[in-house]
Amino acid sequence: MKKIEVKATSKNYPVYVGQNIFEQIPVLIEKKSLHKNVFIVVDENVLGYHLKRIKNIISEKMSKVVVVEYIANEKSKSSKSVEELYECLIKNNFGRDTLIIAIGGGITGDIVGFAASTFGRGVQFVQVPTTLLAAVDSSVGGKTGINYRKTKNLIGSFYQPEFVLIDTTFFKTLKEEEVVCGIGEIMKYAFLGDEKFYYAVCASLQNILKQKHQQTQNIIEACVNMKASVVKADETESGLRKILNLGHTFAHALEVEQDHKIKHGHAVIVGLTCALYLSYFKGILSAQKLIEYIELPLSLQNRISIDKCNIETVYKIMQRDKKSREGKIKFVLLSSPGVLYLDLEAEKETVITALEDGISHFI
Ligand SMILES: NC(=O)c1ccc[n+]([C@@H]2O[C@H](COP(=O)([O-])OP(=O)(O)OC[C@H]3O[C@@H](n4cnc5c(N)ncnc54)[C@H](O)[C@@H]3O)[C@@H](O)[C@H]2O)c1
Repeated sequence: MKKIEVKATSKNYPVYVGQNIFEQIPVLIEKKSLHKNVFIVVDENVLGYHLKRIKNIISEKMSKVVVVEYIANEKSKSSKSVEELYECLIKNNFGRDTLIIAIGGGITGDIVGFAASTFGRGVQFVQVPTTLLAAVDSSVGGKTGINYRKTKNLIGSFYQPEFVLIDTTFFKTLKEEEVVCGIGEIMKYAFLGDEKFYYAVCASLQNILKQKHQQTQNIIEACVNMKASVVKADETESGLRKILNLGHTFAHALEVEQDHKIKHGHAVIVGLTCALYLSYFKGILSAQKLIEYIELPLSLQNRISIDKCNIETVYKIMQRDKKSREGKIKFVLLSSPGVLYLDLEAEKETVITALEDGISHFI
């Protein structure tokens, strides 16, 4: 079992990565002297596939255990679902001495983390990501939240967990489209790291798609290490952490325009393509590099499909992104892997052309 330390300003905590390590949860709870009143929220599909394993972590050393099922989708990543979690906690007499464990993908982690950060002004929280996307990205770094009034992740908090446990054996039951989602965020890290890492991701892409264990674990560790160093430098996104939004302003708007018929990780792949075009149109990225780098997102082109899309609407949604200022959209762009530019603005026509060119590959 690998241990990666996240050293955030508000808290230090470990991320454990390995195969068949889920069953160590009771030992880790004991070792960290965490609370014994345990509220476990499990993604319904994970519960369906892995019920026996989930039952295995319930230990007699826990004073109270309640397990609830959560149906994860962007529509249920809502204030209504958070309220239901509060109701369930209250009905079962949970107080401030509660440990909440989220077992599921990014949606489950985001919403349960938000409930943990607000219930009783914050109770202990553990993340067990069961999708590749959640493992490489969302479970680490403490961003929690819900969608509100058609804006992704508008309400939320920064709230770090006690620990994160990534057991790669959970990924065996993922549909291929979910593996592709994880690869979407891995591609983001390929552009955030250096050239060496970029080429390592290009070389191992097919093996990750086939879920080859060693390559997948290596990439997960590299992404978590990268995220840990960004979060260490800037936990609350006042500067450097903005680089993690590469491709995401496009992606979030596209998800809303498509009424969430496109998955987040797929939208990230399209968003990265648009960000590469915009980097080129802004004169930051050369034509030769555009042709080279665009190969990475386009390598999964035939696994992603977008319904007809209204580009003008996507642009309007981008304007109300929480990172926009007075309707001015802020972009993260790049000139090569690891060389990023923050808070760039662009003329509307340029953004529209980047959207049209990027999206055209996936229609
Ligand atoms: N907090 C952050 O920093 C951050 C970063 C990136 C993305 N996100 C958020 O993450 C969300 C996307 O996460 P996701 O792609 O994990 O989606 P998800 O949570 O919806 O999971 C995808 C699907 O896989 C199923 N599933 C989960 N684990 C499974 C398993 N082991 N076997 C079989 N099926 C399984 C789920 O039921 C769901 O249908 C988005 O809402 C996005 O905004 C947050």
